[in-house]
Amino acid sequence: MKNDKVIIFDTTLRDGEQTPGASLSANEKLKIAFQLEKLGVDVIEAGFPRTSPGDLEAVGMVAEHVKKPIICGLARATKKDIDDAAHALKKAKRRRVHIFLATSAIHRKYKLRKAKDEILTAAVSAIKYAKRKFSDIEFSPEDASRTELDFLARVTETVIKAGATTVNIPDTVGYSVPEEFANVITYLKEKVSNIDKAVISVHCHNDLGLAVSNSLAAVSHGARQVECTINGLGERAGNASLEEIVMGLKTRKDIFGTLKTNIKTKQLYKTSRLVSRLSGILVQPNKAIIGENAFSHEAGIHQDGILKRRDTYEIIRPEDVGFKGTKLVLGKLSGSHAFSERLKKLGYFLEKEELDQAFGRFKALADKKSKIFDEDLAAIVEDELATVREEYKLIDFEVISGNKINPLASVKLTKEKKTVTATANGDGPVDACFKTIDKAIGLKGKLIDYKVSAVTSGKDALGEASVKIKFGKDIAIGRASSTDVIEASVLAYVNAVNRHALRKKSKIKRQKSYK
Ligand code: KIV
Ligand code: ZN
Repeated sequence: MKNDKVIIFDTTLRDGEQTPGASLSANEKLKIAFQLEKLGVDVIEAGFPRTSPGDLEAVGMVAEHVKKPIICGLARATKKDIDDAAHALKKAKRRRVHIFLATSAIHRKYKLRKAKDEILTAAVSAIKYAKRKFSDIEFSPEDASRTELDFLARVTETVIKAGATTVNIPDTVGYSVPEEFANVITYLKEKVSNIDKAVISVHCHNDLGLAVSNSLAAVSHGARQVECTINGLGERAGNASLEEIVMGLKTRKDIFGTLKTNIKTKQLYKTSRLVSRLSGILVQPNKAIIGENAFSHEAGIHQDGILKRRDTYEIIRPEDVGFKGTKLVLGKLSGSHAFSERLKKLGYFLEKEELDQAFGRFKALADKKSKIFDEDLAAIVEDELATVREEYKLIDFEVISGNKINPLASVKLTKEKKTVTATANGDGPVDACFKTIDKAIGLKGKLIDYKVSAVTSGKDALGEASVKIKFGKDIAIGRASSTDVIEASVLAYVNAVNRHALRKKSKIKRQKSYK
């Protein structure tokens, strides 16, 4: 029987979270998982339970509440890792364990110090152990694309025989090129006698910018599962981007024929925004499919062509990925009903408490800004969703600045009902505020990135600030919006401080439970 279905395995919550600077709380992971379910992904890799109690909890929460997709947990080829995955996934309706073990010569020699036979034995015993707890078992020979082909085929045949139901071929370091990677799939299909007993999956990293091309080449040659992330998040240069793979398959039916996914592409833009907001990792404007510029046409010739016939310069309709034009929606007099109805139309379903908070912010915004657009509403809601448990809360701040004085700021924050205040100078008003926050909380943050952008146009536009701050070895990201860019910057800084505080706490918990 012809199998045209390409399984979309989303690893935003696991490999995506390994993006430098990105870190998600269990609640944030759950919010993203709900949206991934709406998007229609088949498998959600929710985390790596053995790595920390935080990840174990997050995988458990996703497993308990997200029912349509298969929920997967990553594990090394050890009993403890498999036990933790089974524990985290016990409430899942459908669950999978994903076991990985490196197979390439360089990993065997330097990382694992194991011979080929020892690798085979470890893989088989892990799968046999996992079979006691799981019926759905995925195995990844890590660094597969740099593994000798004959050994890779031997590993694949052996793990399928032991009980693996999916064999995933990772291009762990993003080294492969499309023709070569497609040949690996062809080789395995030819040489592995039991290959039809398992799904062939691929997992490509983007170190050479080829993750999506390699994934699509593999699918053309028989792979039927693709591992990918929203916005291409992931280790180093990231993983293959889900939105690019899905829209590639959909747009080029002339090449990919009847291959299809379950993805509801109209949900792509919203999913991308949510992941960006919660992970704190901005999407580059020229990012394919969901970047802000993906559908804007600057050149006059292009604009003229689009007006005459859209597909002269547009291969994807913006609405197909959920891109909506700027729309004036609400104003100062709009009530909470109109507000919540509009949010529902935009696809945001908030809990009562979140809705009340968001409505309060909307009213405050409407006092300052005459026209409120869908983008403003999205920024308000996403701010609410991005709120981490607040160890520090901003009460107020003041800043005096000018071109002839040394800027001076003062802030008042609360920490568990105690008020902390400080005053400090800085090179500019924002720098003065950041230094003052550091002084108040007794930490020294190093600002490594700072951006402010307008959510919509106009002098009264909402400004969105994002900061990346290094506290010792930890990098924390913070984001916030306000019509006042200094306030947005201060709130973004406090948001980063809270993320850092939360992580520090979970590390302490982890050290306690693993000592
Ligand atoms: O890149 C990789 O090899 C991985 C494995 C755990 C599948 O992420
Ligand atoms: Zn990976």
